[in-house]
Amino acid sequence: MQHDCRKDLQDLQKLPRQPMLSYVQKQSQPTAPRPKTADRTPTRYPLLTAFVSSKIVAWIWPYLSQRLGPRHPFLTYAASDTDQGVYRMPGGDTEVRLALAGDWATGTDEAHGIGELITGYAPHYSIHLGDVYYVGGPQEVAENFLGIKNPHNAFEPCTWPQGSLGSFALNGNHEMYARGFGYFDQMLPTLGLVQNGTPVGQKASFFCLENDHWRIIALDTGYNSIDWPIVEFFRTPPCELRPEQITWLRDIVRPRADDPRGIILLTHHQYYSRYEDWYPLQAKQLAEFFSRPVLWYWGHEHRMAVYEEFQVPGGIRAIGRCIGHGGMPIDLPPADPKHKECAVEFVDQRHYQNDEHLTIGYNGYARMTLNADRVTVEYQDVLGAIIFTEAWTVDAGGNLQRIRETPSVAANAAAPAS
Ligand SMILES: [Fe+2]
Repeated sequence: MQHDCRKDLQDLQKLPRQPMLSYVQKQSQPTAPRPKTADRTPTRYPLLTAFVSSKIVAWIWPYLSQRLGPRHPFLTYAASDTDQGVYRMPGGDTEVRLALAGDWATGTDEAHGIGELITGYAPHYSIHLGDVYYVGGPQEVAENFLGIKNPHNAFEPCTWPQGSLGSFALNGNHEMYARGFGYFDQMLPTLGLVQNGTPVGQKASFFCLENDHWRIIALDTGYNSIDWPIVEFFRTPPCELRPEQITWLRDIVRPRADDPRGIILLTHHQYYSRYEDWYPLQAKQLAEFFSRPVLWYWGHEHRMAVYEEFQVPGGIRAIGRCIGHGGMPIDLPPADPKHKECAVEFVDQRHYQNDEHLTIGYNGYARMTLNADRVTVEYQDVLGAIIFTEAWTVDAGGNLQRIRETPSVAANAAAPAS
């Protein structure tokens, strides 16, 4: 990328999914863009730079002040409110465009580039699948999501691109590293449906967008992604859905077996993965609601991967799509994946040429177009190339049917993974 006024990917590489170490790595980041002429070879052990005496206080105090204490209250839809988090999208033959990006809010040149591509797509709805780096605190939400200049550094901020009809954000684990205050109090009020040209605010971290053919149901797996300080250093929470969301699904959304609409789920955490950890508890909690396969988009993992249908015992059947490649340094697929039983139809395994000498993949996002009973999804990379395309229809029984009429993989993309 040739912006060079925002943050470098190297400072975010190998960021631990662990609160204290995220606070530590944040302090290894410089306070101004590196000169273009300087040697951009990454520091070999960036975490160690945060332990020099001049920087220890700089991360210990934010860690103690932001990480310790109760989480922000989990927000729900009040029973007396006419807004119950189910929003009607245009339907019929009207085209509806949605932009989906995960793990985008890094403040890097690449994140800014993705934001410009989304703006060029002119989505009706833009949805961030979660994770504001490094710890989703108030300053980082302002700088990396809301486009507010940080007076304490020399970087240009990044602004999440708004949809013409609405914008939403899911909750990620990094937002919760600062206990969710930046997410709930600063981000959500700037989002939600657009009325009279102004977002009215996103009232909760879960919602549903629907029309005559589709229901897009977004759920919060981030709120329960943190544990007690210290304890969370040794174990990863299973990220179960809060009971308020189950009640909302049961009483408000009320998915029915005879509902002919196709189901598209959005969460921050992955149900399954060929490469990293699984979070199957969510899929088991959803088993009472969905008996047919669903399309499920998630982030958290920093890669783009298109999965074959898969399920765990007791979990729903899901056609998974990992799109956590919005703004972080992208992990290239390992030669020996952790879970070979999870088959991928396609995974982006191209090496992104960058001036930081990093061995990483391409950033990107998904552009989803609804048109009556058809949904088309194009996966665009940070340089503007469409690397994978898929289309589905939903039949009268609510079953998803893949349409295979054009090549899915662009000629300039890597071959599908086996
Ligand atoms: Fe995450």
